[in-house]
Amino acid sequence: MIVLVGFMGSGKSSVGRALADRLGWDFADTDTLVEQREGCPVAEIFRRSSEKRFRELEREVLRSLEGRSNLVVAAGGGLYAAAGNRRRLRRLATTVWLDVLPEIARRRVGEGASRPLWEADPHGFRELFERRRATYALADVRVDASPGIDVVVESILGSLPPAEG
Ligand code: S3P
Repeated sequence: MIVLVGFMGSGKSSVGRALADRLGWDFADTDTLVEQREGCPVAEIFRRSSEKRFRELEREVLRSLEGRSNLVVAAGGGLYAAAGNRRRLRRLATTVWLDVLPEIARRRVGEGASRPLWEADPHGFRELFERRRATYALADVRVDASPGIDVVVESILGSLPPAEG
């Protein structure tokens, strides 16, 4: 299993889908799996319940992927920030950090679908970005996610350990 981690707007879902295509593997997105489980969008889970509830669901979804192989997963931006999730992933997967410049992440998030954390505190972006970087840096592999999707996919394929490649 390969799990893509990184900040909102780093391209985990689009790169993940393209990578899965290249490998002939399945693709899953933890935000989508949470939404399917709850029957409502992520933003609504934040609004109607809490971020804490969302994090529980995220943990459950990750647990449900245990034992899967030939799978590329796009992890929600906060999933890898939890030490328990990192421990689980160390056993289950090769983790790949899509490292992107803050300006690029900001632009992509600004254009995309709604992100509750971003909307709650657009000015806290930089601080959250810096704090998260320290945990993403614990991933097995780091790739520069600033270029286009195909380039990023190639650099992931070129950096994977032999067992996944
Ligand atoms: C979050 C990132 C989002 C989503 C939720 C919280 C975060 O996923 O899981 O809004 O804490 O960074 P993306 O990284 O796919 O936008």
